[in-house]
Amino acid sequence: MTLLPIHLLGSPVLRQRAQEIDAIDDDLRRLVDDLFETMRAERGVGLAANQVGDARRVAVVDTTGDDPLILINPEILERTGRQVGEEGCLSIPELYADVERAQRVVVETTRLDGERIRLEAEDFKARAIQHEIDHLDGVLFLDRLSPLKRRMLTKRWQKLRKGETGHIKEVVPPTG
Ligand code: CO
Repeated sequence: MTLLPIHLLGSPVLRQRAQEIDAIDDDLRRLVDDLFETMRAERGVGLAANQVGDARRVAVVDTTGDDPLILINPEILERTGRQVGEEGCLSIPELYADVERAQRVVVETTRLDGERIRLEAEDFKARAIQHEIDHLDGVLFLDRLSPLKRRMLTKRWQKLRKGETGHIKEVVPPTG
């Protein structure tokens, strides 16, 4: 497995709609492994392929550290209820904001064995799934905020990134 560099806000691939996957092969399986490893090294709860510069429609989620979920060509079939909670994003480190999401979702997704399944999630897991599927559509949590809040966070981001060049962050293995 390999730790992949993460694309940060400003990288065009984050704004791309990811491409449907039509074959589950070794290359995809390797990408899924690398996504999990990179997400865990960064202590994230989800990571989409375009965050590592790969515009394929695949993402991983694990909100408990013991509940790995692979999303391949995922589609939200049902959204019910409403929740507001804090979100961050490995592509926009150090920025957090309250985001409104559906409380519960029903998602159709393909497994690595090729089977198309339906699953249901609520609360934080539903939030993470919605956040990752947004990534696959080129949408970031910033886009879900009020214009005022978005401007504030964008300014803070520019301050944080002052003097930095490029939009790629190397991921280092976790210590301890
Ligand atoms: Co994110």
